[in-house]
Amino acid sequence: MSSIVMTVDGPGGAGKGTVSRAVAAAEGYHLLDSGSLYRLTALAALRAGISLQDVPAVAQVARQMNVSFDVTGDRTGYALDGEDLTEQVLLENTGAMASDVAKYQPVRDALLHLQQQFSRPPGLVADGRDMGTVVFPDAICKIYLTASAEERARRRYQQLIAAGNDVKLADLLKSIQTRDAQDMNRAVSPLRPADDAIHIDSSDMTIVEVVEQLREHLHAALNR
Ligand code: DC
Repeated sequence: MSSIVMTVDGPGGAGKGTVSRAVAAAEGYHLLDSGSLYRLTALAALRAGISLQDVPAVAQVARQMNVSFDVTGDRTGYALDGEDLTEQVLLENTGAMASDVAKYQPVRDALLHLQQQFSRPPGLVADGRDMGTVVFPDAICKIYLTASAEERARRRYQQLIAAGNDVKLADLLKSIQTRDAQDMNRAVSPLRPADDAIHIDSSDMTIVEVVEQLREHLHAALNR
């Protein structure tokens, strides 16, 4: 992997998506939102009438699905076979289904090459759970971004309410805690910091502050 890669891993709702997008835009880099691939896999399987427990069939869907991303606006659009699924992709329940299919090694294997293909000059910011540990182990700058579960639930609540969804904060906190436990305790590629990751707790930081710190770490790594 010769191109520059910065990885941003951490639990759901830590702000990885927002800050990764901002860093990529500021640096003129490509962006990989790897969680969306697990979300699209779950949606594609359901649409094909496949049970999410049917691991070989879900892996086959992951290998064959035709996904496209529209990164021109201020949020990413996601399409499957040309059909815009952005709203479904972002639903909390889709995240839970993504976490379910992400437990299976054949599904992760099916998405590995697709994810690595996002690494192109001049550089890539890759956001997920195992970017620094599995997908891009040679990344020049690895970040592990966290925030308390309460703060993450509050942020997700504001996002979903702003998008017109009817959600309860307590339900979101429960869903985040369940998903954390599932992502951290699974046997394959569990959520964990890479040994060489820089840890940042964003609980009391603004988005702008996190973006600035990430860019400083990236520039320091590029100058090493
Ligand atoms: O980041 P997200 O909420 O869109 O991710 C949805 C789920 O996908 C997450 O709960 C676990 C899984 N995932 C993963 O296992 N590995 C990744 N690199 C990204 C996401």
